[in-house]
Amino acid sequence: MASRVFSTAIRTAARAIARPAIRPASILAANVKTTAFKSVVASQARGFKTLNFGGSEETVYERSDVPKEKLLDTFKNDTIAVLGYGPQGRGQALNLRDNGVNVIIGQREGKTYDQAIEEGWVPGKNLFPVLDAVEKGTVVMNLLSDAFQKEFWPKMLPLLTPGKTLYFSHGFSVVYKDQTEIVPPKDIDVILVAPKGSGFTVRRLFQEGRGINSSFAVHQDASGHAKERTIALGIGIGSGYMYETTFEKEVYSDLFGERGVLMGAIQGLFQAQYEVLRANGHSPSEAFNETVEEATQSLYPLIGERGMDWMYSNCSTTAQRGALDWWKPFHDASKPVFEQLYESVKNGSETARSLDRNSQPDYREKLEEELKEIADSEIWVTGKTVRQLRPENVGKN
Ligand SMILES: NC(=O)c1ccc[n+]([C@@H]2O[C@H](COP(=O)([O-])OP(=O)(O)OC[C@H]3O[C@@H](n4cnc5c(N)ncnc54)[C@H](OP(=O)(O)O)[C@@H]3O)[C@@H](O)[C@H]2O)c1
Repeated sequence: MASRVFSTAIRTAARAIARPAIRPASILAANVKTTAFKSVVASQARGFKTLNFGGSEETVYERSDVPKEKLLDTFKNDTIAVLGYGPQGRGQALNLRDNGVNVIIGQREGKTYDQAIEEGWVPGKNLFPVLDAVEKGTVVMNLLSDAFQKEFWPKMLPLLTPGKTLYFSHGFSVVYKDQTEIVPPKDIDVILVAPKGSGFTVRRLFQEGRGINSSFAVHQDASGHAKERTIALGIGIGSGYMYETTFEKEVYSDLFGERGVLMGAIQGLFQAQYEVLRANGHSPSEAFNETVEEATQSLYPLIGERGMDWMYSNCSTTAQRGALDWWKPFHDASKPVFEQLYESVKNGSETARSLDRNSQPDYREKLEEELKEIADSEIWVTGKTVRQLRPENVGKN
């Protein structure tokens, strides 16, 4: 099916280039109701756009809404302290630094600290022990691991003096306060910007002149300016567009999504399909190509570009017939699992497990052991060989 997909996709793309069916301006217009369109035009002057997302109106906030001068002006009197130089801390801090904001890092000594020095952070100047950074920061960005945030809270709490801003990239610590005991003082702003991707992507997209999509939320607005400062900070860390949420909705959807389609479910589906192919006598190469390689290299990028229907419509009619017949049984089989998962997130079971497991002293080793199990499984060992055979990788390690 793959060659058919490519040739049809190329033909369709060529037609689209020769005579675009939908031009960018009309894509926007098609997505915005007449009334909403008026508000787009009106609100563009204010910098915000209200768009229609499949029947529901939402306001979005874009990079163009916070030009560099506005960003720098918003934080001209601030020291932004990023706690943790893990994936998110690193990506967000480097983007803020490149944007010209006054940013310092709080990181314990060790491998990550050494990496920060290699990337230009200077001990005593803009790289400090974590607690020192909390003290110096007027905006404290808590990007420590979720499990360590709980342990560290009693130490940092006295340093969160009135007028400061406490920032998170996850609603975890605040929403599950019964488990974390993290209850911020009332006289500070408490805000969130949650990039919808890894810190590595936050950085890479920014360097490419692109942006990660993020959600944002205000939990406490002591200053009266929390929302505009959150939007500015979200753009400062490299967001492309942002949508508003609450701490609770952010953490529910995030824990749900990563356990579901983004990570847990996708590994489960890949593994199950691969096993059935192997049990029926298909070679590893065939089982892997038919399960993972075609998905990631051909079909999923098409979904990303123009949606599921467009991917379907660029496959053979045989493939379309089968996919249209079978997506519903897969939906019906998996929906109860998703419902069970959402409940497990909502009732705090997922957080309890995560806090318990990830606060043990050997948590990294334990995680690595389980990751190694996946890495050593036949499907992903096969994947390594298949990836080496991609023409662009031949001759590389
Ligand atoms: N990763 C994502 O995709 C993503 C996306 C959106 C939001 N978030 C949120 O962003 C926040 C940070 O996530 P992350 O993935 O960047 O971080 P992470 O890997 O979970 O945590 C990394 C940071 O925490 C520090 N840390 C962990 N245990 C410590 C301890 N016992 N003592 C001192 N420091 C300790 C690490 O220092 P060492 O390196 O020295 O251990 C490192 O600086 C979390 O709230 C997360 O939920 C993450």
